[in-house]
Parts: sequence; structure tokens; C-alpha cells
Amino acid sequence: MNATTTNQTNQPPLVQGLPILGNTLNMINAPIDFIVEQYHKLGPVFKINTVNQQIIFIAGHEANQFLSRAANDYLITKEIWGGFGKSIGAEKFLVALDGEEHFKMRKIMMRGFSPRMLTNRIPAVAELTRKMVLKKLKNKGEIKVTSFIQRLVCEQLGILLANKAPGKYYKPLAFYVRTLLNVNIVRMWPRVALYRPKFLIAQERANKFGEKIIYEHLTAPKPEAPDLIDDLLQAVYEEGLELTRPELLLAVIGPFLAGMDTVTNTLATMIYALAKHRDVLKRLQKEVDDLFANGLPEVKDLNNMPIMHATLMETLRRYPVAPMVPRTVGEPFEFAGYRFEKGQTVYMAQGVTHFLPELFPNPYEFDIDRHLPPRNEYRQKGALSPYGLGAHKCLGFQLGELQMMLTMATLIHMVDFKLTPANYELKMQTIPTLGPEAGFKVQLVPRNIHKRFTAK
Ligand code: HEM
Repeated sequence: MNATTTNQTNQPPLVQGLPILGNTLNMINAPIDFIVEQYHKLGPVFKINTVNQQIIFIAGHEANQFLSRAANDYLITKEIWGGFGKSIGAEKFLVALDGEEHFKMRKIMMRGFSPRMLTNRIPAVAELTRKMVLKKLKNKGEIKVTSFIQRLVCEQLGILLANKAPGKYYKPLAFYVRTLLNVNIVRMWPRVALYRPKFLIAQERANKFGEKIIYEHLTAPKPEAPDLIDDLLQAVYEEGLELTRPELLLAVIGPFLAGMDTVTNTLATMIYALAKHRDVLKRLQKEVDDLFANGLPEVKDLNNMPIMHATLMETLRRYPVAPMVPRTVGEPFEFAGYRFEKGQTVYMAQGVTHFLPELFPNPYEFDIDRHLPPRNEYRQKGALSPYGLGAHKCLGFQLGELQMMLTMATLIHMVDFKLTPANYELKMQTIPTLGPEAGFKVQLVPRNIHKRFTAK
């Protein structure tokens, strides 16, 4: 931004809020709707008060393009995520690092988060999905969508990234991760939550799971199929990467932290959208049934499903689970006529563009055709950013997309989804990741449940 256009005394406009609470409730109830509304009223930079902090937002198409170029020069994650790490005695971990140190750590973890991790694990991931669906069908087939999907996703992530599904460790692991995020990042739970017995027990169980993963990789390595944990252990034990025990444990359970709620909430909103838009579901059923007619899909088949891809893009656009991410100003900078000072808390609200009609006409409509030729709206630069911007952009997004497409394909082939009640309207909740409320339910109705999945 040109410094001459900047009025140095110009403060970002403050959004009106309640005494003491400020805009806390808006941020809990419908954060993205609230932020989009402020963007339309106040422009690309504005600030809000919550109970415990003042936040400056940067949003809009120009902001997304500016931030994807320059965020790393001015904005840091250390202050925000460092507090997260400190609360469990771990200072060094991927999201909390900046600059060169972050670059090095990301390089170590790159292969372990790459799509090739799915190549040999498709049968295991699909079989897990099949078994969980059959178990639910035995019990009348009604599911609470987010808890069902979270369990499934957590087991899948274990298989994909650590060669070990969490099984009995799932519940403590999920509670541990959720509490850490709610206290340290979303800041909606009090710090005392970190001292309660339920949290301490969950922490101990999650760490035990992490220890088991490390032990199994050290004692029975599989050099023919190395995974994220092998790469981490090699960096620590052979290449001199210095990590304390809590830091290593956090790196090992990191994939669950990053992928569990994001993938779960995206899949859960996709199920809602499909149950509502039966025409889209029909198109997907055709694409998926054709795919499964020849046995289990391979990675190349998953990458060649235009209707599934468009449905996923539209779900990520219409229901972004991480539409804004927090940062601290590390170096002063100027944008849109405002000066940002060192130490200020800034949210990059990269999901606001998803709701701008100049980029996505009728933005509140769920319309998968906008992502198919000739429209291809998802390809506009700086318009669709579900995975963040800049150096910390999601490292697992390609693997995550394949995981989501495989899981949805398997589910859609096996069952139909019926909302319960039939006229249900989705309610979202925030804590910690934006997604459907816990009470969102569907009835699974059998379609193709008789056949076992076999690899081609
Ligand atoms: C719908 C699926 C997903 C969404 C929407 C999503 C979104 C995001 C976002 C917005 C960030 C940036 C955070 C920031 O800038 O502060 C991020 C970072 C990250 N994500 Fe994802 N994510 C998804 C799935 C996954 C999966 C499946 C994995 C791996 C198993 C993963 C691994 C990571 C990692 C490791 C980072 C940190 C990157 C870094 O700090 O350099 N994500 N994700």
C-alpha cells in the first residue's frame, strides 16, 4: 500500500458492541456473517472488542491478495500459538514458528502431509468407513453427524499420518485438543479448564497415545512406507533437530489437532447440503456409483470426479470452517489507509471474499455449478481461501481433500442421508472450529451396503 495515502492518525472504525462483552456473542454465534456485515458497512479494516481482547480485522479481495504476498513479512504467529504451546510445556511446533525456523520445520513435515500418504491406504480408509456405517445401520441408522464423522476422521488421520488409529484414545485425544484450542486460541474457555481433572486425565491419555506411536515407529520401522512420524524421528535422532519431549509429542499428535475438526466440520456441512439439495446428491450418486462399479477408486480416480470436486469447493466456500486466523503484528505496516502497530492482534479474515457477490454471485446459495466450466469461480485469484494465506497455509489440504472425497464417495455409495426432522435448518457453532451444532442429525438409509470393497 502506498504510504502517501495513509492517514497515520486514522484509527480503524470500532464496531459497536455490548458493555463488557463487546462483540463476544456475535463472534460465538455467527462469526463469519457478522464479519461480512461489518466489511460491507465499514470497509476492509475495522476493530471489535471481545471480553478479553481488541481485534483488528483485515478482509476483502484486495486484503487477501495483499496478505498472501506480504503476511509473512509483517504478521507473526509466535505470540498466539506460543501461548498454546507454553500451556503444555512445548515452545517449538510448526504453527508457532515464524521465518526461517518455520520454513525448516515445514520442510521436514512436508512429505508426511502429502497426498501420497493415501496411495496405499485407500482400502484401509474405505473399510473403516464401511464398518462404522454398518455399525450405525445395525442401530437404526440415525447419527449425530459431527460426533459420528469426528470419530471416523480421527481414526482415518491416525492411519494416514501415524500408521495407528487412536481407537480407545479417541475420546481423550479429542477432548485434549478441543480444550487447548478453546482456552488458548479461541479464548472462549477460562484458563482454569487446563487444571481440571478431566483435562489432566485426557492430557495423560493423549500423551500415552503419542508415546505408543513413537515407540512403534522406533522399534518396528517400515522403511518401505515412511510416514510423518518416521520423518520427524529421523530429523530428531539423526539430523540434529532439537525438540523437547513435550514438543515431539505435540508434533506427533499435531495432525489430529490440525485435521480433526476442520475435516469433520467440512464433511458434516457437506452432508447437510446434500440432504437439502437432493438434485446435487443425485448427480453425485451417479458419479460415485460409476466409480465404484470397477472396485475401489485409486488416487487418480478421486482426482477425476468433477461433481464431487465442485461440491467440495462449494462446501468449503459456503461453510468455511476457518474463515479467519489470528496473528500478531511483528513489523509495522500500512494497508487501506491504516497503520498497524507492532504487538496488535490482527485477524486475517480471508473467508469474507467467499460471500462477496462480485466474486460469487448469489453468495448464500449453495450452487455447485459455479465451480464447473464455464464458470470455474473457485479459480479466481484471492477469492476462495479456505486453507488460509501465506507461509502457514494449510500443509495438509491436498491430502485432506482426497480424504474428504474418498470418505464422501464411500458414504454416498453406501447410504442416502435424510434430515431428522425433515425440515431441519442448519445451526452453526464456533467452539473451537466453525461447524454444525452437536445436535445436527441425519438418518442413514441403505443403498449399496452388501459388497465389500476390494482394491482394483
Ligand atoms: C477441510 C479441511 C481443512 C481446512 C479447512 C484447513 C484449514 C487450515 C487453515 C486455515 C490453516 C492456516 C492456519 C493459520 O494460518 O494460522 C491450516 C494450517 C494447517 N493445516 Fe489445515 N485444514 C484442513 C485440513 C487439514 C488436514 C487434513 C491436515 C493434516 C492432516 C492439516 C494440516 C495443517 C497443518 C500442519 C497446518 C499448519 C501449517 C503451518 O503452520 O505451516 N489441515 N489449515
